[in-house]
Amino acid sequence: MKKPHIANVNLSRTGEKRIEWAAMEMPVLRKIRDSFKKEKTLKGVSIACCLHVTTETANLVVALKDGGARVSLCASNPLSTQDDVAAALVKNHGIYVYAIKGENRSVYYRHILSALEIKPNITMDDGADLVTTIHQRKREYLRDVQAGTEETTTGVIRLRSMAASGVLDYPIIAVNEANTKHMFDNRYGTGQSTIDGILRATNRLLAGASFVVSGYGWCGRGLAMRARGMGASVIVTEVDPLRALEAVMDGFQVMPMPMAARKGDIFCTVTGDINVIDEKHFTLMKDGAMVCNSGHFNVEINIDALERLSVKKREIREYVVEYTLPTGRRIFLLGEGRLINLAAAEGHPASVMDMSFANQSLCAEYIVKSGEKMAKKVYSVPPEIDRKIAQMKLLSMGVKIDRLTARQREYLTSWQEGT
Ligand SMILES: NC(=O)c1ccc[n+]([C@@H]2O[C@H](COP(=O)([O-])OP(=O)(O)OC[C@H]3O[C@@H](n4cnc5c(N)ncnc54)[C@H](O)[C@@H]3O)[C@@H](O)[C@H]2O)c1
Repeated sequence: MKKPHIANVNLSRTGEKRIEWAAMEMPVLRKIRDSFKKEKTLKGVSIACCLHVTTETANLVVALKDGGARVSLCASNPLSTQDDVAAALVKNHGIYVYAIKGENRSVYYRHILSALEIKPNITMDDGADLVTTIHQRKREYLRDVQAGTEETTTGVIRLRSMAASGVLDYPIIAVNEANTKHMFDNRYGTGQSTIDGILRATNRLLAGASFVVSGYGWCGRGLAMRARGMGASVIVTEVDPLRALEAVMDGFQVMPMPMAARKGDIFCTVTGDINVIDEKHFTLMKDGAMVCNSGHFNVEINIDALERLSVKKREIREYVVEYTLPTGRRIFLLGEGRLINLAAAEGHPASVMDMSFANQSLCAEYIVKSGEKMAKKVYSVPPEIDRKIAQMKLLSMGVKIDRLTARQREYLTSWQEGT
């Protein structure tokens, strides 16, 4: 393995304390870690992870290592690495980390190649860059890979496309599809942390602002809900009639982007799609409009078009670039159009990542136990894992629920009793 490549190992003390802080809010992962430690569930397994290098990810990779795995870690976005966390993982936990906040595209891919040198038996991806790199550039590693996991919607879309084209060479478990992942992480996690990112970048008052959310999927629902909670007047743009109808019934204004473009003060895309805010939309925006993205890749805002349209560009504060159009109107691009919650803030709160990463770790265990029987396709998370995590989370919160009686179970599985 290459030596770890991180920004500054001297940041490890701060990173360690922040990792500890996150751990306090991750009781489910903690329980899994204790059991991994005792059973050595992942003994001898090599795991390459391409995940946002945050305090929560640190707790995940340490749990994998405690289970007996060898672990390498690179970033799943050039702007999402927390350098102090990377330092603590290298200095105190023996994790092979290759990640530096603000790395350029070529360093980003070099880091992926370094992480792959661990010759993974399991890949853990967030966006599918690890899987696609192995398939396109490092096929010799395919021999050792038993299976992989995928954390996010965009990654699952790419992997399903690979499976449909017949090019996916090993099984993947779509962690994003667990209910205990997308219903909580994408909705409440993205909802809160995206607002956090926008506020840290701009310090803008949301009350009274017109806030445009593009995409009313799991992330969009959470973001729209939280923006409204801060007093913004929320507009939703959608392409799916069902989702648009849901947004209407949830009480939001729904309209096409060319109309929303004229009204919005703040725009945030969460679609997983390309050019959602495009050249023609920029020309319609008000002076001072702010645009950002919380979808996985930085393609949702057509930044090239904004660059072309502008006569002047300057960084006005950290994570905020001001573009001046020939009309004199200014548009502010936040966080280079990358995931604003990870670029300008710290990503999701630990309590929600507790469930996402409980899924990741239990899926790794599942692969070790059942990987040989799996086919080269994209699997959903086994429902028993999903239920177990929901139960563990409730237990950790001190919430009890009812149980079906024998009579109720019988009734719910019969058809004879009607009116
Ligand atoms: N910021 C984060 O930390 C974070 C967390 C989870 C997921 N994500 C990413 O966020 C994105 C959305 O994830 P999701 O789980 O909400 O997906 P989803 O599939 O549930 O929702 C996406 C929505 O966007 C809509 N859409 C697509 N193209 C559109 C367009 N041109 N205009 C308006 N709406 C459009 C779709 O109809 C859909 O309703 C993905 O890229 C995902 O990987 C980010």
